Amino acid sequence: MEQLNQKLINNFIVDDCLNILPQIEDETIDLILTDPPYNILNTNLIDFENNKDFISLENEFLRILKPNGLLLTFASWQLWFSLFNKWKKLKFWYEMIIVRSNGFSMMYKKRPVNRHEYLLVFYKNKSDIFFNEREMGEYKKPYERGLHQGVNSNAHASSHKKGYHKNEDGFRKPTSILKMKTKNHFKQDERTKHPTQKEILLLEKLIKTYCPENGLVLDPFAGVGTVAIACNRTNRNHISIEIDQQWFQEYIKLKEKEG
Ligand SMILES: C[S@@+](CC[C@H](N)C(=O)[O-])C[C@H]1O[C@@H](n2cnc3c(N)ncnc32)[C@H](O)[C@@H]1O
Repeated sequence: MEQLNQKLINNFIVDDCLNILPQIEDETIDLILTDPPYNILNTNLIDFENNKDFISLENEFLRILKPNGLLLTFASWQLWFSLFNKWKKLKFWYEMIIVRSNGFSMMYKKRPVNRHEYLLVFYKNKSDIFFNEREMGEYKKPYERGLHQGVNSNAHASSHKKGYHKNEDGFRKPTSILKMKTKNHFKQDERTKHPTQKEILLLEKLIKTYCPENGLVLDPFAGVGTVAIACNRTNRNHISIEIDQQWFQEYIKLKEKEG
């Protein structure tokens, strides 16, 4: 079994993920970071209306995640509802909103154009979760609260007093709103023909926040391998699975440009 994992690590496998997941060793994955077909187009290869596929995925994810491992999945509201209703063992924890730089899904009529999607966080066991908030938060101006608001006019002398807070390095905690460029705003050499390609920069941030260095990330719906590229850039390992050979070819081109 261990040998099988060795064959999969840092590889991009072209196959149905339901065939490959059973080959992954128990409790070896730190983070599942994925972007499944969203259940709004008829071209889905995983049938998200079909309980069998859902339950197989849930069972495999539970088996291969480390006890403190997390699953982060991009989702439409349709996929979110299906996962929420059907997954009973992997536990939903919280959602984040991904705001795109431009609208997408222009096919909609008589309603606003979509500019957001969801990132859902599921866990197995909440103890000892890896979360490096410094990678997802922002650095702005340092501040000293209490001084300027007149709450505590002698705050410098008595920084232990209630209402006084000194922010020395300007760090702001991450919020549940994340930004992602739409594809036509990606760097030219990072664009491929994949219709739902994700921005590598956002994936890098997520990986550094949720997976320790040298850890193992799984993307079972890899598209053009943006998670794999982000793992290479951040010194994490990956297992990437994609059913469609044409996206593997695009991954090879992206990887070559990485040098
Ligand atoms: C939303 S896209 C992922 C795009 C990816 N995040 C990227 O940045 O390129 C979902 C991908 O899942 C693939 N897929 C669908 N069913 C699959 C299956 N059963 N096994 C593996 N891949 C599958 C599709 O071909 C598609 O490329």
